[in-house]
Amino acid sequence: MNALPIEAAKAAGMARPESILPSGGHPHVDPVAYRAAMRELAAGVTIIAAGSGEHRRGLTATAVCSVSAEPPTLLVCINRATDGHTAISLGGAFSVNVIGPEHRALADRFAGRNGIHGMERFAEGHWDTLATGAPVLADALAVFDCRLVHAVDWTTHTVFLGTVVATRISAERPALVYRAGSFSHLPVA
Ligand SMILES: Cc1cc2nc3c(=O)[nH]c(=O)nc-3n(C[C@H](O)[C@H](O)[C@H](O)COP(=O)(O)O)c2cc1C
Repeated sequence: MNALPIEAAKAAGMARPESILPSGGHPHVDPVAYRAAMRELAAGVTIIAAGSGEHRRGLTATAVCSVSAEPPTLLVCINRATDGHTAISLGGAFSVNVIGPEHRALADRFAGRNGIHGMERFAEGHWDTLATGAPVLADALAVFDCRLVHAVDWTTHTVFLGTVVATRISAERPALVYRAGSFSHLPVA
């Protein structure tokens, strides 16, 4: 019996996307259709922060994902045009701050919705540091303080992988979630 293509690719140690796509191409749907479908993916809201002093930069982000527990590693997907991208690249560290409904105004602020940019975004909220020196939000639901270990560029964005060198949690509080262009909150179960 013939092996399926993916099984053959795995056996050859080549289970990479380009090795299993038909003829090595990149078929895709219309970006408008992609965005419409992606709007249905409810996501926890975070603020990603990097840099120090007047070089602090940050942005609201939902593209955050755990990668592995040993070693503790997560990834964030950051638009290359953002100040946060520059700060992470230059500083080699970043924090992921998981936020709750009480931080909704902060989420708008760090998304640039009120026209506030650069380090001015940090004028609201209580910010301190843990291990790396990246800014961390004092009353976040959870904080992941990360050292940058790898970066992969993909068109408009970069996937940054960070090993987590410190955490802080303040659990048992509702989470802020984003879906279909709106914020809502997820109560504690
Ligand atoms: C709910 C929400 C989630 C977002 N998620 C991301 C994300 O995962 N990655 C990203 O690069 N931008 C994301 N953005 C957009 C950035 O927050 C926004 O472009 C920000 O202003 C970038 O900062 P800048 O002023 O330095 O460009 C998100 C915005 C919102 C409102």
